[in-house]
Amino acid sequence: MREAGSLCLALLFPLLRALDFGYHDSEQLGSFLREVHERHPSITALRSIGRSVAGRELWVLILGKFPNQHTIGIPEFKYIANMHGDETVGRELLLHLIDFLVTNAESDPVVKRLIDSTRIHIMPSMNPDGFEAATVPDCQYSKGRFNMNGEDLNRNFPDAFNSNNAIVQPETQAVINWLKDETFVLSANLHGGALVASYAFDNGNPDTGTLEGYSKSPDDDIFKHLAMTYSSNHASMYKGNQCGNSSVFPDGITNGYAWYQIQGGMQDYNYIWGQCFEITLELSCCKYPPASQLQSFWNDNKAALTEYIKQVHLGIKGQVFDQNGQPMPNVIVEAKGREHVCPYRTNQQGEYYLLLLPGTYVLNATAPGVGSIPKALQVPNGPENYSALKYDFIFPDVSITPRDASCPTKPLYQSFQSPSAALKPALHFLALMIVLCTVFT
Ligand SMILES: *[C@@H]1O[C@H](CO)[C@@H](O)[C@H](O)[C@H]1NC(C)=O
Ligand SMILES: *[C@@H]1O[C@H](CO)[C@@H](O)[C@H](O)[C@H]1NC(C)=O
Ligand SMILES: *[C@@H]1O[C@H](CO)[C@@H](O)[C@H](O)[C@H]1NC(C)=O
Ligand SMILES: [Zn+2]
Repeated sequence: MREAGSLCLALLFPLLRALDFGYHDSEQLGSFLREVHERHPSITALRSIGRSVAGRELWVLILGKFPNQHTIGIPEFKYIANMHGDETVGRELLLHLIDFLVTNAESDPVVKRLIDSTRIHIMPSMNPDGFEAATVPDCQYSKGRFNMNGEDLNRNFPDAFNSNNAIVQPETQAVINWLKDETFVLSANLHGGALVASYAFDNGNPDTGTLEGYSKSPDDDIFKHLAMTYSSNHASMYKGNQCGNSSVFPDGITNGYAWYQIQGGMQDYNYIWGQCFEITLELSCCKYPPASQLQSFWNDNKAALTEYIKQVHLGIKGQVFDQNGQPMPNVIVEAKGREHVCPYRTNQQGEYYLLLLPGTYVLNATAPGVGSIPKALQVPNGPENYSALKYDFIFPDVSITPRDASCPTKPLYQSFQSPSAALKPALHFLALMIVLCTVFT
């Protein structure tokens, strides 16, 4: 009897505890994350990176073999959802992603390798006040889009191309601080109101190609690959025309600026100042669909969400040491021809991570005021092995620390080559039309 009883309980328990397909308010979201952490303490950590205007915690669940702190050689990845509080699908998808990852951490070899090789940060809601303000499902945008001070958080970051006069909000500041604290390499930011994967730049100037209706970063090929990874692993995004007759996106991807220009966006901020490649995922034509559709959203996105995380292992990673074997922070490590406006530098452990597609590259490690070391390297397809190629630099003659990182508040884009000739000026017109036809997403 007793044994049968506990067997029944054991069988029932997971069923009772399985995360339901419904919307979870801030309180339910917090208790779900606490429960996940209590049940899986060795592979999870739970943090709040700050508070919203109304004082709600900005929760982040971290998954990894060493969830509590950064480990040298293990790249940091993040997903952020619901920065527009009325765009709700991503919020629930990330809760289901957490549920899926912890539940399959031992049994599914792909999940196990992901967790062993990557530190994954998941923030289901960057704008919990906006979510609470958007009380009913509604496909159009509503006041829940904004934070409690009425600010659009995806227009609230410092901007490299224009000065942004918006007052930095607590939610934005929390993300800015978080980017300083962790060595993030890859990220995606989940939205709703369209079905497309959009990549940097969202803003630009003639040097980045805006006169041709596209704002091209030096890593355009990588961004296209990242966006394609998501759209081609999604049930229908790759078809490119899933939201009635609004915009048509070939392959389900778009350059952010080519769709419509935004200033103060989070994606450009991550890439320019955070040394983190971020794309923007628009995951539902309807911003706040009925809960009855959440299960099918999960089915449509599950493979794409996991495949995208793997891309954190593209390219090259390693450390820079001095002659005494001491790690050197603030060394600029860039691939030739892909120098970033705000140069990417090694962290406090002397580590660098550069996302690169398979191919041959010349890396250049520069210790400001000391010297440079160039090195040609053949880059394999890292995600296949859940690891970027590893290469360490050693500066033989020095044991001094390079100067601290400095980054212009208003970077200039003068070093850019002429933009791609493949884009016809007509695109600019098209982009303008699309802006006129788009309710903000
Ligand atoms: C959108 O598509 C519908 C059905 O295909 C069509 O009737 C309607 O005119 C279209 N609207 C616009 C603005 O193109
Ligand atoms: C490496 O960077 C330094 C500093 O920007 C530059 O002077 C040098 O020419 C670069 N070397 C190569 C091989 O690109
Ligand atoms: C994967 O790792 C194995 C063993 O370290 C190595 O032989 C192989 O070349 C790697 N493949 C890629 C694509 O990096
Ligand atoms: Zn949005």
